[in-house]
Amino acid sequence: MVLRRSPRMDETTHPYCRQEEENPGCSDMDIIEAVGVTKSFASGAMHVDAVRGIDLSVRQGEMLAIVGPSGSGKSTLLNLLGAIETPTDGQILFEGVDVSTLNDSERTLLRRRRIGFIFQAFNLLPTLTAVENVALPLELDGISEGEARERALGCLDLVDITDRADHLPTQMSGGQQQRVAVARALVIEPALVLADEPTGNLDSTNSAQVMRLLRDLVDSRGQTVVIVTHDNDIAAQADRTVHVRDGLLEEYIAEHLHRPIPRAASW
Ligand SMILES: Nc1ncnc2c1ncn2[C@@H]1O[C@H](COP(=O)(O)OP(=O)(O)O)[C@@H](O)[C@H]1O
Ligand SMILES: [Mg+2]
Repeated sequence: MVLRRSPRMDETTHPYCRQEEENPGCSDMDIIEAVGVTKSFASGAMHVDAVRGIDLSVRQGEMLAIVGPSGSGKSTLLNLLGAIETPTDGQILFEGVDVSTLNDSERTLLRRRRIGFIFQAFNLLPTLTAVENVALPLELDGISEGEARERALGCLDLVDITDRADHLPTQMSGGQQQRVAVARALVIEPALVLADEPTGNLDSTNSAQVMRLLRDLVDSRGQTVVIVTHDNDIAAQADRTVHVRDGLLEEYIAEHLHRPIPRAASW
């Protein structure tokens, strides 16, 4: 299946897209870089330094795992990388562009067109079928219903779940729902996929299937994936692991000697 880039994307003059058009060699660049990033939350007398000065870059076509105990700042870091949260200090450079220089609508477009999110709880809309859930990000971006559905079906095919296209989330297992969520993340043809504990609600069989799928996206399609997990076995399937503790990057782990993971026979 050939995924096509949205024509609207090519028409845009937003800086992160302009850079890609002017510099076709930008695949040599880091897709995203955090430079001295901090994030503090304050509500009333409570003050939490969730991320306390992190430098991190993610290369095109790698799978990076961010691991650490609960409350260590993993989700906050991922949300900073995904322009969901704004840093208190420091910079996030997305394809070389400082995200803080984008206005609200440019930042929304960055998230909508360049970044695919996958969540622990799948976050599918319960009243929409699988194909409608996957088509939604395109329709929100002004793509016609027919084209959005066609592209959504293509992505469901990619994750091998077309037979569930017209099923509601409640009619699918957790593993199937997460594969639909992966399709939804991919339908926009993102530069970067961010996954926050994507196997956290899955049993070991479904967890392995979703990891094989993500691994396959990186190995066969050159997709870039950042995965947050507290599970070292999940992290071991990434190309590189960084450890977060108390809002700080603890250490760089040597790159894994990557073993090919066989595809599941069932899909
Ligand atoms: N929106 C928020 N408001 C206040 N505190 C927050 C918020 N989000 C996260 N935190 C706090 O920041 C710290 C890191 O949280 P989080 O990034 O969710 O950790 P992890 O994903 O590693 O479990 C925790 O102490 C958490 O309570
Ligand atoms: Mg978290």
